[in-house]
Amino acid sequence: MSSQLKLTNKTSKTNPTIFARKKLFAILLQMTATLYFLILLYLYLKLMALAEDENQFTYNGFHGANLHLDGVAQVHPNGLLQLTNTSKHQAGHAFYQTPIKFNTSSSSGYGSLSFSTNFIFVMVPEITNFSGHGIAFTISPSMDFTQAVVSQYLGLFNSSNNGLTSNHLLAIEFDTIKNLEFSDINDNHVGIDVNGLNSTVSAPVTYYSNSKGINKSLDLISGNPMQVWIDYDEVANLLNVAIAPIKNQKPNRPLLSIHINLSLILLDYMYVGFSSATGSVASNNYILGWSFHKSGQAQSLELAKLPSFPKQRNRKEKSNLEITVSLVTVSIVLIITILGIVYFVRRKKYEEIHEVWEKEYGPQRFSYKDLYRATKGFKDTELIGAGGFGKVYRGVLPSSKQLVAVKKVSHDSKQGMKEFVAEIASMGRLRHMNLVQLLGYCRRRGEMLLVYDYMPNGSLDKFLFSNKKRYLNWAQRCRILKGVASALVYLHEEWEQVVLHRDVKASNVLLDDQLYGRLGDFGLARLYDHGAKPQTTHVVGTVGYLAPELTKTGKATTSTDVFAFGAFLLEVACGRRPIDLQGLPEEMILVDWVFEKWKQGVILETCDPILEGDYLANEMELVLKLGLLCSHSNPATRPSMKQVMQYLDGDTFFPETILEGAGIDMLVKDNKTSTEFFKSVPSSSGNYSVYSASSSDSILCGGR
Ligand SMILES: *[C@@H]1O[C@H](CO)[C@@H](O)[C@H](O)[C@H]1NC(C)=O
Ligand SMILES: *[C@@H]1O[C@H](CO)[C@@H](O)[C@H](O)[C@H]1NC(C)=O
Ligand SMILES: *[C@@H]1O[C@H](CO)[C@@H](O)[C@H](O)[C@H]1NC(C)=O
Ligand SMILES: *[C@@H]1O[C@H](CO)[C@@H](O)[C@H](O)[C@H]1NC(C)=O
Repeated sequence: MSSQLKLTNKTSKTNPTIFARKKLFAILLQMTATLYFLILLYLYLKLMALAEDENQFTYNGFHGANLHLDGVAQVHPNGLLQLTNTSKHQAGHAFYQTPIKFNTSSSSGYGSLSFSTNFIFVMVPEITNFSGHGIAFTISPSMDFTQAVVSQYLGLFNSSNNGLTSNHLLAIEFDTIKNLEFSDINDNHVGIDVNGLNSTVSAPVTYYSNSKGINKSLDLISGNPMQVWIDYDEVANLLNVAIAPIKNQKPNRPLLSIHINLSLILLDYMYVGFSSATGSVASNNYILGWSFHKSGQAQSLELAKLPSFPKQRNRKEKSNLEITVSLVTVSIVLIITILGIVYFVRRKKYEEIHEVWEKEYGPQRFSYKDLYRATKGFKDTELIGAGGFGKVYRGVLPSSKQLVAVKKVSHDSKQGMKEFVAEIASMGRLRHMNLVQLLGYCRRRGEMLLVYDYMPNGSLDKFLFSNKKRYLNWAQRCRILKGVASALVYLHEEWEQVVLHRDVKASNVLLDDQLYGRLGDFGLARLYDHGAKPQTTHVVGTVGYLAPELTKTGKATTSTDVFAFGAFLLEVACGRRPIDLQGLPEEMILVDWVFEKWKQGVILETCDPILEGDYLANEMELVLKLGLLCSHSNPATRPSMKQVMQYLDGDTFFPETILEGAGIDMLVKDNKTSTEFFKSVPSSSGNYSVYSASSSDSILCGGR
């Protein structure tokens, strides 16, 4: 500069000052122009950038968003945009502040009218199923809706301007009220509104499920957020609207799709935003997120960044909770009741009678539950016999896996129970290899259960009568007879007290695994002494085995047992029942027949034909004669069991002369009386049962 100044100074001699000033001015001008250019360039670029920004925006929540709000609309501190609250007859608007240039005048540039927008809204009704008038996405030439009306006009129009082409307004309505004046299809629809509320096109709210390939319905006022996609393609003139639950992808098929030329509707500069209105019913309508792109695809919203919104605090949820609570309560009460009933039923099922005095018999006491389980609940398949005293079941004790036979004896009396249990207990102490071991008992209301050793081969009568294949040879039969006799000797004479069996017969003799005979059911007849009906005397036993004096006096003695044993001897030797109603008349009463044959001197003709003569004649004869002797009508003439044993063992010579004389007549006479009686008894062979005779039974007592 100084050199220039010098130059200027030099040239100032030839008008140097003017020249220098002109030059300086030119330079300054040049610099200023450059500066202006730079500033303009900057501003232009800045404006371009701004214009670019204003063409698109994305709000995942509206904190600090460039929005113009009016009415009851507000942005919450968490970024939640609320369009309406529960105030009635209100409207709320939220518009992007900067107008969007839709450039309708020059339709040459591609995308000048095209746009794309996504948003997520939720309508939370105050009262379930009742809501305000819905939400409309709006493209409007103005943000001033002061003249517009709330309720059905959605805060967009009034009655005089509704439908006028001068409105230049496009709205996509999410309408929750059916307004007949606008020809609404229902109270849950989406419609495209051009300049007015009579929708150009509308549809009930459904969405296309991409995974399932079907349309599913959607309830706008469910209180659940939903996402909306609105796309307009200027080239195709196509406006698409799709809606789906927030978690779903954009449906492959839009809900609404129409061809529409927006160039006639939109102006060059338009505002985009939302309008919502309440009527006499209100709802909290929210926008959670919104993205917009003029001439491009709107950005996807990020669900994780969206603000939360207050859930419906209404009766529905409360009542849901209440319903849940009461359901749970009812369930619990029901379960407890059922458990109680099950417990009670189980208790009842396994109920037993226990009394204090039974304590001493504890070891012989079985629990009913164990016996119930052992016999599979007293199942019919486990039934192995049904005798006079009750049914007998096979069982396996759950704890020891021991095989047992459980006899169920019905017994209603409480009277004498103490003595009877005492007897049972003492019988449990009886030990003899030819007695079926009584293991213990159990007592319930109305029944007594007796537990015995299980005899795998069943009862003797089955071998003798039912199944001819199960053959017992003479030696086996003798062994059984001797065994039973020795058991009776034990009961009558060898134990600490006299035990009467009172029901000796083939069906009460059981065979163990080696076909040894064992006497069962001893002492059981006592049960009938205790539990008998009052009008009956205590005549207990089986027809055909009853000693004649027993039917008269009703008093059982060792002799009556011997009488029954006599019938049993003949039964085993002859292979016939004591009374056979199917046989020839003279053979009907076994003892009479054998006696007749003995008198004729051909007693061996009576022996069991199945043996086919394979026996020792002297043994057979002895057994038959002993049978007759034991069946003597005079008890005094009958031998004792000990004597019977001695005869069987051959220790004593059998006094055949006793059979001769007076005794024979008595025997025959008495049984003749019986014969008439038995003829009148309807009985099928083999069906014998305990016979408990009434004292007033004149037929039975006719022998007197
Ligand atoms: C709704 O919002 C407006 C404006 O924010 C407020 O004055 C009014 O009290 C609100 N109504 C309810 C019911 O909260
Ligand atoms: C709400 O409407 C739905 C569908 O119409 C219905 O299933 C539901 O029971 C209604 N709820 C109440 C509380 O009225
Ligand atoms: C309806 O709105 C228009 C402008 O938006 C206004 O000029 C007109 O007066 C309004 N009419 C009524 C009846 O409010
Ligand atoms: C839309 O309408 C305008 C004005 O009538 C017309 O110039 C334009 O070609 C139309 N666009 C299409 C895609 O038909």
